[in-house]
Amino acid sequence: MSQALQHLFGIGQLSREQIEYLIDMGESFVELSRRPIKKAPTLRGKTVINLFFENSTRTRTSFEIAGKRLSADVINISASTSATSKGESLLDTGETLAAMQPHVLVIRHSLAGTCEFLADFLPHTSIVNAGDGAHEHPTQILTDLLTLKTQADGYQGKTVTIVGDIAHSRVARSHLLAAQKLGYKIRLVAPKTLLPSHVRQYGCEVFHDFDAAIPGSDVLYMLRVQSERLTDNCAFPSIREYHEAYGLNRKRLAQAGDNCVVMHPGPMNRGVEIASDVADSARSRILDQVEHGVAIRMAVLTALCGAAPEPEKLSPKKEKAAAAMQAQGKLL
Ligand code: CP
Repeated sequence: MSQALQHLFGIGQLSREQIEYLIDMGESFVELSRRPIKKAPTLRGKTVINLFFENSTRTRTSFEIAGKRLSADVINISASTSATSKGESLLDTGETLAAMQPHVLVIRHSLAGTCEFLADFLPHTSIVNAGDGAHEHPTQILTDLLTLKTQADGYQGKTVTIVGDIAHSRVARSHLLAAQKLGYKIRLVAPKTLLPSHVRQYGCEVFHDFDAAIPGSDVLYMLRVQSERLTDNCAFPSIREYHEAYGLNRKRLAQAGDNCVVMHPGPMNRGVEIASDVADSARSRILDQVEHGVAIRMAVLTALCGAAPEPEKLSPKKEKAAAAMQAQGKLL
């Protein structure tokens, strides 16, 4: 452990051992959600505030369920119903909520770096990045890796082909960072207008022809076109053209190996980046990703609140990472 941290801003800040520790802890929480009584006392007395300036179904709900299943008090605030709609600044909102003494503030915002910015002013509150612009979405990547570990024979040495709106995707960027640390390969597939040249610095393969990227892929990871972030209509062809060139349909899936699985972080646009029958097929791991999202957010909240369980059967490196987390009383 080279650095002690209080927050979870992104995959970029985590070591391989830290990532694996959180995935392992997430795996241990999956079973809790399948019990008839979905409750554990781990975070009793802790307060978690979800502060979302952008819409969300999966991330916001799973943080809420994760906190509640571990007995934390969870409060949800969305920008449209908060005083930001009356002109209050981001900083004033953050300082106001921190004055109510939460342990964890989970933040989603359209601007990259929002969490780091607020953390400078909120020294007693742990901050989790629930997605900041096109920067990072760390809990989504931990969720995907847990899904690959448990539903697709692991991620080590695998080729994950990410298809779609790379330019606006925090998920793609976080996967590029994770792949370098964990030893899996990334192929990026997109039209030239949705694929910035700087991605090549991450050592990934780049394709503009989806069909050429399919053979050898272990995962076809489809992304939504983020029309809300497209400022230039010319950057995107028509929906029909896009689906033809970059949509995952049965015919394309048939070109992939028998063990290749389909993933999507959601929300899906059926008929655009993914055909309905593929999304609902036996190859799809999309709902597994959703289930694992709750378990991973349990792990992240537990680690941030300094309540991490005793590590069992961990490698010496991971034991060291866990011990450092516990000594800090914080994540990492
Ligand atoms: N994957 C994801 O972040 O989905 P939501 O926008 O619904 O949270």
